[in-house]
Amino acid sequence: MAGEHYFTAEPGTPEQERTVNFQAAGREFALLASSGVFSGQRLDPGTAVLLRKAPLPGPRGGVYLDLGCGYGPISMVLATASETAQVYSVDVNTRAVELVRTNARRLGLAGRVHPGRPDEVPDDVVFDEIWSNPPIRVGKAEVHELLGRWLPRLAPGGTAWLVVARNLGADSLQAWLASTGWAVERYAAQKGYRVLRVTAG
Ligand SMILES: C[S@@+](CC[C@H](N)C(=O)[O-])C[C@H]1O[C@@H](n2cnc3c(N)ncnc32)[C@H](O)[C@@H]1O
Repeated sequence: MAGEHYFTAEPGTPEQERTVNFQAAGREFALLASSGVFSGQRLDPGTAVLLRKAPLPGPRGGVYLDLGCGYGPISMVLATASETAQVYSVDVNTRAVELVRTNARRLGLAGRVHPGRPDEVPDDVVFDEIWSNPPIRVGKAEVHELLGRWLPRLAPGGTAWLVVARNLGADSLQAWLASTGWAVERYAAQKGYRVLRVTAG
């Protein structure tokens, strides 16, 4: 991926497919990933902390947003954890979006996982929960813009679960969120990652 970032819209690197194996929510996942997508060789350790520490959906389900979904590990875990969850999986990386489509189909989740680019999410959908390992490396202003765009689409009483590495500015992101009126709590910390719980202030 020399000279190219995982958040490139259309990765130019040849597609090299791989399987990423991991355990979450008490089951084994084997997801299709590839070169040119974020952490396409192993489950990202921050994502692993998020999936371990934040409360997964119960049977009641709900409407979820996986913001910056990559090849879809968060989406697949959410949709598997609750048989009634509807998951919108968005990414600017078209290769990632296609991988989510394939992974959802292989797991029999295609009817409840809706992959697409950000502009493809219908305007009237609101989310009970937003889950994200946000693309911190795109820059502070862009991350603020991203969260400023999607957090207001939480349903009343909704919650966002974010994981951010401490050394990539988790604490300053927490402070910024609080300064813009969100109630934000450091819900968990593990292995240098913070899990932030964000609700309407
Ligand atoms: C840190 S990665 C997490 C990927 C995946 N959720 C995982 O845990 O492996 C962040 C993702 O956000 C995507 N991204 C970057 N800018 C974005 C934007 N403006 N809207 C949506 N996704 C974006 C990147 O392409 C990348 O896949």
